[in-house]
Amino acid sequence: MTKTGDKWQWIVGDAPPPLDPHSKVKHQLVRDYLYKYIGVLMANAKMPRLRLTLVDGFAGGGLYSDGQGTAPGSPLIMLKTAAEAEAYLNTSRIQTPREVDAQYHFVEVNPSSYEYLKHTLNAEGYGRDIGTKIALYNNKFETVCADIIAAAASRKAGQRAIFLLDQYAYDDIVMPTVANIFQNLQGAEVILTFNVDSLLTFLNDSKQFHTITRRIGLEPYINWRDIARLKAGSQWRQIIQRQISHGIWKASGARFMTLFFVTPQGNSPWSYWLVHLSNAYRANDVMKSVHWDHGNSFGHSLEAGLFQIGYEANKDMDVTLQTEMNFMEASAFDETLRTRSIVTLRDELPRLIHEQHDGVTFNDLIYQIANKTNATEKIIKESLNEAVATKELQALIEGGGQRAKGTSIRGTDILLPSRQKSIFMGYR
Ligand SMILES: C[S@@+](CC[C@H](N)C(=O)[O-])C[C@H]1O[C@@H](n2cnc3c(N)ncnc32)[C@H](O)[C@@H]1O
Repeated sequence: MTKTGDKWQWIVGDAPPPLDPHSKVKHQLVRDYLYKYIGVLMANAKMPRLRLTLVDGFAGGGLYSDGQGTAPGSPLIMLKTAAEAEAYLNTSRIQTPREVDAQYHFVEVNPSSYEYLKHTLNAEGYGRDIGTKIALYNNKFETVCADIIAAAASRKAGQRAIFLLDQYAYDDIVMPTVANIFQNLQGAEVILTFNVDSLLTFLNDSKQFHTITRRIGLEPYINWRDIARLKAGSQWRQIIQRQISHGIWKASGARFMTLFFVTPQGNSPWSYWLVHLSNAYRANDVMKSVHWDHGNSFGHSLEAGLFQIGYEANKDMDVTLQTEMNFMEASAFDETLRTRSIVTLRDELPRLIHEQHDGVTFNDLIYQIANKTNATEKIIKESLNEAVATKELQALIEGGGQRAKGTSIRGTDILLPSRQKSIFMGYR
């Protein structure tokens, strides 16, 4: 291995690079997400096969040094996790075997690291799959992305494809490429790393930064004229982060997004984001649940309950001239945040539901708020418990009847505010 700045190069014959705490967290997330999501997609026990395309666009050499031994890199993690998920699906079945029929595309631009990846795959017993199940590319991801999209699109049954785009900084992947993935693949998802700190630290209204952000597709989402003024205040990072996160979501064209900081314990906290983009709500919810499962390794600086990304004048002290701004300190996905989320949503959701005069199905409600909350569907249901139990809200069951508590709510239930209670609560 050799290191230039914070970038590693794998060399066959040398020890692999050390696994840093950020990558460890990232690997855990990829593993757990993939495992859980395959389980969700195969929840129907009658489904015999799941066709899936797994893409590692910034693959690296495939192996790390970790303590006394080695640890797998993301390509091996994808291969092993899909096999483990398939084995689990078959544990309790004696009849027809169930299959995770995955095709893999691994892209690595650095020739030495690419050779190392090939070497790793061979050493791990995947040599025979190269050229059949596994396509390897010694190229830039951007250059081969269209070929990969075409290969995934030609597979029948849903075009499900997960793209892991694990760039070092924030400018190796441009948003039009991500948008292209979503435009051409119905079942696409993208997991993107974005080192927001290295962009924000130097960001200013200069020709240099206009050029960089224009190239990656985020220039129109930044409130350029205000940067200098904002940087003089103490909350500038959070304000500009909201603009950039909003930009990533808009420019990607994906319907749903989760975006959180990776914060390994004992490490400098808020350096990079892990962004998950998808058009499927279920994928978004599974990703949120994985963030909660690893609560101390992920964080955010947005409010519990409902938040807004993009520029918000009411969060900008210089616009509002208020000092008691409701800005969150960075916090983890822990019990405190969970409780605060439930308490806040308990208050906010009945108001939101009341604004939709003819009621709203639970499914429509969760789709509406998916990008505005850290809460999973389970937490949202819990936060509705009190309102449903006290009949402040009615949860009407399709075909008749009402739910007695929030946790029993199903997607097709219609949520309606109770009239009397609404007047009493001061809603109109
Ligand atoms: C952060 S490392 C990837 C680590 C890997 N995903 C893992 O977790 O095991 C980024 C890798 O992407 C490669 N790379 C950089 N720019 C690239 C590009 N445009 N296309 C493909 N690979 C690229 C680098 O050489 C490096 O090996």
